[in-house]
Amino acid sequence: LYERKPFISGNWKLNPQSKDEAVALASGIAGSITESSPDAEVALFVPYVFIESAQSAVGGKLSIGAEGVCPQGNGAYTGAISAPMLNSIGVNWVLAGHSERREIFGETDEYINEQCLKIIDEGMSVMLCIGESLAEFEQDLAGSVCAVQLKKGLKGIKKEDLGRVAIAYEPVWAIGTGKVATPEIAQSVHETCRSIIAKIYDDEAAQDMRILYGGSVSPESVDDLMKQPDIDGALVGGASLDSDKFGRIINFQ
Ligand code: G3P
Repeated sequence: LYERKPFISGNWKLNPQSKDEAVALASGIAGSITESSPDAEVALFVPYVFIESAQSAVGGKLSIGAEGVCPQGNGAYTGAISAPMLNSIGVNWVLAGHSERREIFGETDEYINEQCLKIIDEGMSVMLCIGESLAEFEQDLAGSVCAVQLKKGLKGIKKEDLGRVAIAYEPVWAIGTGKVATPEIAQSVHETCRSIIAKIYDDEAAQDMRILYGGSVSPESVDDLMKQPDIDGALVGGASLDSDKFGRIINFQ
C-alpha cells in the first residue's frame, strides 16, 4: 500500500512586517515540534527577505520555503528572484500558482508552468496550488478547473521528478474567508485531482502524489480534514501567523 508522508505547511504571504517578528514566529513554530508530534514534513513559505533568518531560527526542525520564483534566468528582470538564487541559500520548497498570484499578479497557467519547470530543473521541489473560484464552485466546475490547472501546470514535468512535486488544492472561496471546505467537499475534489493525475501520468504517480488542502485551515478543522483518505496535508495562511494555532495544526490528531 502507498504511504504518503503528511505535509503541513504555512504560507505567510506578505507578513509579518519585521525581521524580529519573523524570527520570533519561526522559532515559536519550531518549538511546537516535539518527539510526540506526528511524523509529518513541515515547511513554512516566507517572504524572501526573511528566508535566511527563519532558517537559522528553526534550526533544521522544518524547512523554509519561498513563496514564488521568477522563471527567467539571470539578466534584466528588476525586482525578480531566480531559482538558482533560492537554491544557493538552501531553499528546498517553492510555491507556484497560488490564487493570489493568479488573480492579483495576473500569472497564467503557462507562466506558472515555467516556474514549476525551473524549480524542478534547479533540483528544488514545487508546491503547485490550484483551485476554483466561488462562481466556478457554484456551477459545479471544481473538478474541471482543477483538471485544466493540473494539466497546464504539470506540463513537461517528467514522472521521475514527481517526488519533488506536491499539489495544494485551495478553493478560492475558502481562502481567508473563514469558510473552510467541509472535509467531504475537500475529500471529493482531492479524489478527483488524484484521478486527473492518474490520467496525466499513471496510477502509481497518482497514489504517490501528496495533495494538500488549503483554505481557512484552523486548529478546529485540521483533524477532520487530515482523516480524509485523499487529504495528505494542509497549506495554512492566517493560522500560520500564530505559533500556538500553527503548532496545534502541526500536531494534528
Ligand atoms: O496558501 C494558504 C492560503 O491561501 C490559505 O489561507 O488564511 O485561508 O488559511 P487561509
